[in-house]
Amino acid sequence: MSDDSAQQPGERIASHIAHNARVWNYWLGGKDHYEVDEQVGTMVTSMYPSIGEVARADRDFLGRAVGFLAGEAGIRQFLDIGTGLPTVDNTHEVAQRIAPDARIVYVDNDPIVLTHARALLTSSAEGSTSYVDADAHDPAAIIEAASGTLDFDKPVAIMLLGILNFVLDTDEATSIVRRLVDAVPSGSYVVLTHPTLELGGEGNEAAMKFWNENATPPITARTGAEVAAFLDGLEILEPGLVSCARWRTEGTEEGPLVAQFGVVARKP
Ligand SMILES: C[S@@+](CC[C@H](N)C(=O)[O-])C[C@H]1O[C@@H](n2cnc3c(N)ncnc32)[C@H](O)[C@@H]1O
Repeated sequence: MSDDSAQQPGERIASHIAHNARVWNYWLGGKDHYEVDEQVGTMVTSMYPSIGEVARADRDFLGRAVGFLAGEAGIRQFLDIGTGLPTVDNTHEVAQRIAPDARIVYVDNDPIVLTHARALLTSSAEGSTSYVDADAHDPAAIIEAASGTLDFDKPVAIMLLGILNFVLDTDEATSIVRRLVDAVPSGSYVVLTHPTLELGGEGNEAAMKFWNENATPPITARTGAEVAAFLDGLEILEPGLVSCARWRTEGTEEGPLVAQFGVVARKP
């Protein structure tokens, strides 16, 4: 857990600098952001107009992936790291609609997400949700805190949506995924989305540079090969590592090539 977790969340909120969770909320059309978030979000949009489409595609991917896991794959436990601010169809809502006994642990290190955690903690009577205020760089603390809600002897879906891009060192990001995967049994899954410059056209690199100079936390894009390497040793499900807008969209129009990979993999 972060050292400053003893502070009240309000004391940790920096309202003068744009924060990812709040700007993501702005791009998703939410209301939980400050003026500075809107300014940076608008500037990024002017440099890279499809950023809003990326955010929406990521959320839609979350819905399809969790729907598949709770349904066809029979998963009943979800560890959602880098939760974001509550929006429509949060992980527990999608999972518990299909499997009311599903148990969900949300993890984020942004104090504003913590202040909204109550909205994430509604649960079906049969299931359970909890919230952990922790940093993705510390998987051991996450597993320890999550083990109050999740049984790590049974399969868990580890959800890493738009979060490893904030772990700038690729070796460290790989080690985080490994340590999380090592903590769960065979039959568990990893669900991942990650920004890339390989899809989604021009403008994104300049927009990310602007982000890194004006907002927090700093972000990095990765190639498909780098993202696939996070999943070494796991079975990548069809259709593989693709634009998250194109992952299992059966029955609907094929989505665009957004600058965000989406992938689901199973621990053999
Ligand atoms: C791009 S949003 C993604 C939200 C959600 N997973 C989704 O896909 O819509 C990234 C989230 O990760 C959180 N985050 C960023 N760095 C983090 C870190 N080091 N530890 C925990 N959470 C972090 C941010 O606060 C934000 O809520």
